[in-house]
Amino acid sequence: MQTCDMSDADLTTALALTSPDACLSLYRAWAESYDAGFAKDMEYLLPAHVAAAFGAAGGGTPVLDIGAGTGLLAESLRAMGQEGPLDAVDFSADMLAQAARKGLYRTLAQADITQPIPLPRQYGGIVSSGTFTAGHVGPEALPNLLALALPGAQFALSVNMRVWKARGFDTALDAMRAQGQITALQLIEVEVYGSAAAAIDQSHANDRAQVVLFRAV
Ligand SMILES: C[S@@+](CC[C@H](N)C(=O)[O-])C[C@H]1O[C@@H](n2cnc3c(N)ncnc32)[C@H](O)[C@@H]1O
Repeated sequence: MQTCDMSDADLTTALALTSPDACLSLYRAWAESYDAGFAKDMEYLLPAHVAAAFGAAGGGTPVLDIGAGTGLLAESLRAMGQEGPLDAVDFSADMLAQAARKGLYRTLAQADITQPIPLPRQYGGIVSSGTFTAGHVGPEALPNLLALALPGAQFALSVNMRVWKARGFDTALDAMRAQGQITALQLIEVEVYGSAAAAIDQSHANDRAQVVLFRAV
């Protein structure tokens, strides 16, 4: 099992996680410094890209933020004018504790999204930034998200390009569309980090992600 402490709670560790325990350990160490350290230093753009794409696609409410972490996506959604309730789900109680302090979410649920998620089917919008990436969650979670969506719900999920084909997000989404589970599938490729990242972490500074937009049928 992989473990880590504050000194190695970094992107390289995060993208190589191999177990749920390793994930919880990493985010326990990272939660407090995540916003002011990682997100600020790397000029982390992904939550803003997801929020903008969600709004441009027409949005929906209430919104569930998948792998909400410290709540950066909620901050972007509110900054872009998203109204109505925002709920959070995340595996890490430590990350959710940071999010709770911001007072942006109506509810915060601790759950593993690779398992059926113990929330009602009540969402008109389902969003996520940074959770579908290397060492994190694969496309096996998508049916669990769909189970919480109202008919017509708008999805906006980031998927890091490192795992887009490697973990089969492309084929999983095509299959969901072919089976009539989703419609209006659209992909927008974005930069994960801004120009400041190059001075901090050259191996990840140029990371790109798909923002995957679709509606539940
Ligand atoms: C890179 S952080 C992204 C957090 C936030 N969305 C953002 O963009 O800053 C990934 C988050 O996914 C969560 N996560 C990882 N695996 C998970 C799982 N199986 N179920 C639920 N959350 C998970 C982690 O706890 C962490 O908070």
